[in-house]
Amino acid sequence: MKMVVAIVRPEKYGEVKDALKDRGVTGMTFTPVTGRGMQAGVKFTNRVGEFMIDEIEKVKIEIVVEDDSKVPCVIDTICQAAKTGRHGDGRIFVLPVESAVRISEWEPEPMKEAQNTEGN
Ligand SMILES: Nc1ncnc2c1ncn2[C@@H]1O[C@H](COP(=O)(O)OP(=O)(O)OP(=O)(O)O)[C@@H](O)[C@H]1O
Ligand SMILES: [Mg+2]
Repeated sequence: MKMVVAIVRPEKYGEVKDALKDRGVTGMTFTPVTGRGMQAGVKFTNRVGEFMIDEIEKVKIEIVVEDDSKVPCVIDTICQAAKTGRHGDGRIFVLPVESAVRISEWEPEPMKEAQNTEGN
């Protein structure tokens, strides 16, 4: 099981979300973030001079993919939707995930034990 963390342009995240839904990927978390990449920000010039903005707005998308073999498809889908070909398109990181719990399906231990003994 893996966590795909994608940091994309805010104006692209709607397309990314739709493309993932088309591939059957529905569960995900979106967070507005700021950050900087290899260029350490974006350089602007005005009449006062040059200045850097190093807190650039992006959207972070976190998707836990239970089937590892689906990770390349998720990455391709995100890239296809998010790529402009210019610096600042974003980054994707893949992390291992130990476990996942769906809270609505969780039951306290005594109930689990009772269910197990019912079958005996
Ligand atoms: N090494 C990193 N660790 C954590 N977050 C990162 C890292 N690199 C980039 N990010 C995040 O990704 C966002 C987008 O980065 P960006 O697309 O500029 O990456 P880049 O490596 O500079 O690639 P490019 O050359 O295409 O701009 C950053 O604003 C930051 O939030
Ligand atoms: Mg960059």
